Amino acid sequence: CGIIGHVGDGNAVDTLINGLENLEYRGYDSAGVAVQNGSGIAVQKRSGEVDELKASIENVSLEGNVGIGHTRWSTHGPPTDENAHPHTDDTEDVAVVHNGIIENYAELKAWLRDRGHVFTSETDTEVIPHLIQHYLDGGLDNEAAFRRAIDELEGSYAVTAMFSGEHVLYATREGSPLVVGIEDQEFFLASDVPAFLEYTDDVVFLEDGDVVIVDEDGIEFTDVDGNPVSRETETIDWDPEQAGKGGYDHFMLKEIHEQPTALAQAIEGRVDSETPAIRLEDFRNGTFDGVENVQLVACGTSYHAALYGSLALNRAGVRATALLANEYSASSPPIDDGTLVIAVTQSGETADTLNALRRANADGARTLTVTNVVGSTAARTADDALFIRAGPEIGVAATKTFSSQVVMLLLLAQRITDDARGEPAADLDALLSELRRMPDRLDALLSWSDAEAIARRYDGSQSYFFIGRGLGFSVALEGALKFKEITYGHAEGFASGELKHGPLALVTPETPVFAVFTGREDEKTLKNAEEAQTRGAPIVAVCPDGHRAVDVADAHLEIPETHPALAGLFANVQLQLVSYHAASLLDRPIDKPRNLAKSVTVE
Ligand code: G6P
Repeated sequence: CGIIGHVGDGNAVDTLINGLENLEYRGYDSAGVAVQNGSGIAVQKRSGEVDELKASIENVSLEGNVGIGHTRWSTHGPPTDENAHPHTDDTEDVAVVHNGIIENYAELKAWLRDRGHVFTSETDTEVIPHLIQHYLDGGLDNEAAFRRAIDELEGSYAVTAMFSGEHVLYATREGSPLVVGIEDQEFFLASDVPAFLEYTDDVVFLEDGDVVIVDEDGIEFTDVDGNPVSRETETIDWDPEQAGKGGYDHFMLKEIHEQPTALAQAIEGRVDSETPAIRLEDFRNGTFDGVENVQLVACGTSYHAALYGSLALNRAGVRATALLANEYSASSPPIDDGTLVIAVTQSGETADTLNALRRANADGARTLTVTNVVGSTAARTADDALFIRAGPEIGVAATKTFSSQVVMLLLLAQRITDDARGEPAADLDALLSELRRMPDRLDALLSWSDAEAIARRYDGSQSYFFIGRGLGFSVALEGALKFKEITYGHAEGFASGELKHGPLALVTPETPVFAVFTGREDEKTLKNAEEAQTRGAPIVAVCPDGHRAVDVADAHLEIPETHPALAGLFANVQLQLVSYHAASLLDRPIDKPRNLAKSVTVE
């Protein structure tokens, strides 16, 4: 989601709308603004793109020199007018925009309802203005009520609030970005620099726990307790085109780098560190009682995530198959009372996947969608939906959504097997603890990866092969798909043991073989890689440092030592980077490869 706030001379509305247009890449399913006018707070919000909001404003007179705006990417509640931000309390004394996830919103909502508060949306955000109102009613002033309410929030958030009759903005962050822009006596608050880059390039990046108070006279930077803190002003030298990409050359690279955050959001509130246990929203213990076999249907990159998920389920003792959605009707897999069909789709709009889902519904299967888009057709078509919370993905080649889908499916697999077998998997503790470390370790990997050097070294090769076993096989398929999508080079993914049954005929010194090692049956994979190496192919081992494959291989892409269920995800990120840099050397239009579309809504 994207946040913009403005304090200055003149009407804030144009600046806010402009800011929202600049932020549309962060979310575009609904948008809204609130401004301080003579009689209080005026709110205008709409589902749909910022253009819809703009059109709706043309016929109303919306004016005020202080205001906030938001463009949304739904996490709680579909994209409707009611669920759009800003949100207000019952009396419209306070308006709030928020990015992130309030983990304890259900408890807070129940508590506030008991005290007479009436909620009009399904969002987690709406608890914030109501909580602030509660403290205003209790006699606190605006600032104290804001601080008191923020103190009760758990989760990640960037919040900006304004109060009726006061020309001031209050903002804070915890785990979600928020940045201040300064141009003389004009001030901006935003989730991201591009929102206001055309007005100023002097910015202050806030830190977790900062509370800032902005009015026409200036900005006060304080900590949670109200003590002043000093924050440095930096000058940004991005050009506006690059700015939408957060300083990266392409959305794809930006999205690759967003994976630590995306994964943190995917697991937020879903992995209980104390028990340890998995909490998946409404999917409590027993929800999957009676599920005996799982069919996962998907296309493209989502199919590779589905394959990863099916292998994890099988390993945990539940029968599962990943099926290409476009083959589903032709393959007619049997469905009975114990069948759960899971549609895996980033967009939630892929026609092939929707058809498979509809067929599964018609045949009486229980259905569930795993998607990034709340309110998408697939989310509405299935009995249930689980959201991966990766944020919008603009690059046609899917990257962060693959990782988030896999993590979601791993959690789901544990939940299902727990119900099916009546006990959690033996190594659940180890898996969850490694999963919690994953965002930080991925962040580190992104900083030291030498994928670019590998891409240079093998630039101009005839074909690129990717091999792996088990979960590593799905990563090999995804590595090859990414490579062909954005470089237009010939790439294939194989099960490593399958090389000798045919593909070995293609192997030459001009065909590098990327071998993915996950920590399971690695000896066999290494033997298969050596079979290709003997025929002259250079081997790139994707494995931890110190692994035996490093000594054998011609080159090495390092991944951290981790749980075998997660190693493939690290390997996949390295392969995403190899494809990205290989395509970049060839000067390909990386974000929009020829002949491909982000969401294919025809069969
Ligand atoms: C298109 C895209 C692929 C994507 C596939 C499935 O073909 O080009 O990148 O993997 O659709 O999309 P979905 O939205 O269902 O995950």
